[in-house]
Amino acid sequence: MRKLPLALVLSLGLMVPQVNAQKAKSKKAPSTTVQQKTKPVNPAEMKKFIDALMAKMTLEEKIGQLNLVSVGFTVTGPVVSENVDENITKGLVGGVFNTFTPIAVRKLQEKALNQSRLKIPLIFGYDVIHGHRTIFPMPIALAGSWDLAAIERSARIAGDEASADGLNWVFSPMVDISRDPRWGRIAESSGEDTWLGSQVAMAMVRGYQGNDLAAYNTVMACVKHFALYGAAEAGRDYNTTDMSDRRMMDEYLPPYKAALDAGAGSVMTSFNDINGVPATGNKWLMTDLLRKQWGFNGFVVTDYTAINEMIPHGMGKNEYDVAKLALDAGVDMDMVGEVYLKELNKLVKDGKVTQAQIDVACRRILEAKYKLGLFDDPYRYANEQRAKETLLKKEYRDAARDIARRTLVLLKNQNQTLPLKKTASIALVGPLVKSQIDQLGNWNGAGDWKQAISVEQGIRNVAGPNVRITYAKGANVADDTLMIKRLNAHGGQIEIDKRSPEEMIREAVAAAQKADVVVAVVGETQGMSGEASSRADITLPGRQLDLLKALKATGKPLVVVLMNGRPLALKWENDNADAMLETWFAGTEGGNAIADVLYGNYNPSAKITATFPQSVGQVPIYYSQKNTGRPYAGDLLDKYKSRYLDVPNVPLYPFGYGLSYTTFSYSAPTVSTSTLKAGSSLTVTVQVKNTGNYDGEEVVQLYVQDLVGSVSRPVKELKGFKKVFLKKGEAQTVTFTLSENDLRFHDLNMKYVAEPGEFKVYVGTNSSEVQSISFTLVK
Ligand code: BGC
Repeated sequence: MRKLPLALVLSLGLMVPQVNAQKAKSKKAPSTTVQQKTKPVNPAEMKKFIDALMAKMTLEEKIGQLNLVSVGFTVTGPVVSENVDENITKGLVGGVFNTFTPIAVRKLQEKALNQSRLKIPLIFGYDVIHGHRTIFPMPIALAGSWDLAAIERSARIAGDEASADGLNWVFSPMVDISRDPRWGRIAESSGEDTWLGSQVAMAMVRGYQGNDLAAYNTVMACVKHFALYGAAEAGRDYNTTDMSDRRMMDEYLPPYKAALDAGAGSVMTSFNDINGVPATGNKWLMTDLLRKQWGFNGFVVTDYTAINEMIPHGMGKNEYDVAKLALDAGVDMDMVGEVYLKELNKLVKDGKVTQAQIDVACRRILEAKYKLGLFDDPYRYANEQRAKETLLKKEYRDAARDIARRTLVLLKNQNQTLPLKKTASIALVGPLVKSQIDQLGNWNGAGDWKQAISVEQGIRNVAGPNVRITYAKGANVADDTLMIKRLNAHGGQIEIDKRSPEEMIREAVAAAQKADVVVAVVGETQGMSGEASSRADITLPGRQLDLLKALKATGKPLVVVLMNGRPLALKWENDNADAMLETWFAGTEGGNAIADVLYGNYNPSAKITATFPQSVGQVPIYYSQKNTGRPYAGDLLDKYKSRYLDVPNVPLYPFGYGLSYTTFSYSAPTVSTSTLKAGSSLTVTVQVKNTGNYDGEEVVQLYVQDLVGSVSRPVKELKGFKKVFLKKGEAQTVTFTLSENDLRFHDLNMKYVAEPGEFKVYVGTNSSEVQSISFTLVK
């Protein structure tokens, strides 16, 4: 993602000064509660309205509705939209994205309403991914909170802010399952797990859309990237996926389906090729599965120029060919590519596609506008007063801080190094200590990095003005000049220090020697993950590891605070740091939230949702693997086993792992019955006790294994979790319900069934540390 320089934005007239603002029509709407529309959409009335409208539309105008243009701040591909104003007045634009603020939106909406023949309102979209103006932690971090209410709240706030800022459509949730930390977009995902990913997807849709799309403060969700984008080969962005139907159905597709079942109004295609046909031209995916099997009746938009990109994919000689392919597949709206605009008319004249196909696509887009209430009040979402009162308001900053604290993962804490004492003097070292921009992460919407709290500021806020800090940068965040040049060309702000690496390390060591404790803030910049930001080497970039080694050699307690967008390979760090806190990119209030955890104002409770490997060579690595015929059982000299010669099989940190300042003990789990009859359910019960010295929350996790199947089954699959708060010394009985439905998968004949036989249930604190019990499913 690249943000255009402000000067260019202004020169293009993309943002208009806030003076001649027309008074917004919409009524004031308070806070995060969804503002109900008085009347729910009546399908018959909607049909009548759209029939009447479409009867007046020319073929060109119908094709115009299929055209989505980018105007403004952000560019995520090699092409930008041209002649936008003119096309709007000619009725050749259906929607606009990448622009916001009530004024800018109103200006374009007025063009459509006052100057186009049929006065059809535009839909306004944007990449609101983890917050609009108030930025929340990256999605990978949010998922790690295992707190669905907090996740839903973050989306509700984002929806409230976005809708106050002119928008009515967000390109989120991103629900691509990813098991490859080389892929930069893992940061935008919920990680590796199908079941958890599905829960998060639903929570996000509920948050954005509420239960009334036409409310002033809800926005339409767009589920992306359909499909399998997270399985790009070698973790290289936009790369091919090739996958069995069973794996798709059981592991990769359920989160998209869950988001649609939660009511998401639109779907975005993915860039990748799927078993030989790119998603954007894939009729099986877009029509057979999405429409016929899943019954989706919203609209499908392409990803950025994804129709055009089917030419280099080798799917057509020219835009004419690929426009036909996409429309035939069932793709309704063309993002930026303008291939539909240029080619569909000709394709109809040549008899290659039918008017009826265009009518179907056009109707779906008009229906979305109708559901959003745009025909009732096209300016519903452009209310300056509401924008002023809503964006980045204190209540939302407070929520961002609270939610961020729930996403910070304590990876290690030897000798109770954390929490810090406010009286301790700190050597605050590292290239990310003072960074505000990196707190926002990538895809940071309308976030203003100047409003973000750095780690240093957060520590000063929480520890108070008397805290003794000696700062040293210690290392550059990267030393590869080409990489830095590339990152800075797309919004990065990386500055290479004039001093030599040795000099910087010497300064940091001197600071460490004088301090009680060293806090090293290291990791990646926000641009090192996200779109088009794959990395083949997932260790700390530049000389940051050398810095940590030198700090360790001082003998001072070493606290490593990580900022990064993907699981990193942190073997040395794990072996040598005294404490380690994974903070991802924690958002506008990141620094405050981090300091809250460092000083024990909040006891960490998050757990990782993507496995951290010991070495990049283990990738893809995920907990729900298959056993193989030669599983490795720990005997190093047993040669013919499924293992590496040079690294262990086990990850550095397994899925579901994360520590607390307190400790928890688990009783052995019990089941209500050892025989589960088809159609009924059983309960799994475990006692969890807080055995440490702090009150705290624990994510109790439940996994299932089907021991024998008509096809081989994973060694474990997450099927439930409960996040419980326990005062110190307190115990609680945690109960889960399992039914036949939780045991289903696609069998040898691709039927979605639960097969009778023995199952193991595992309960524990992460996917590795579990205790088990069995039951049998009988039919
Ligand atoms: C990304 C999408 C995004 C779109 C619009 C693309 O490059 O893949 O996730 O929604 O740009 O900005």
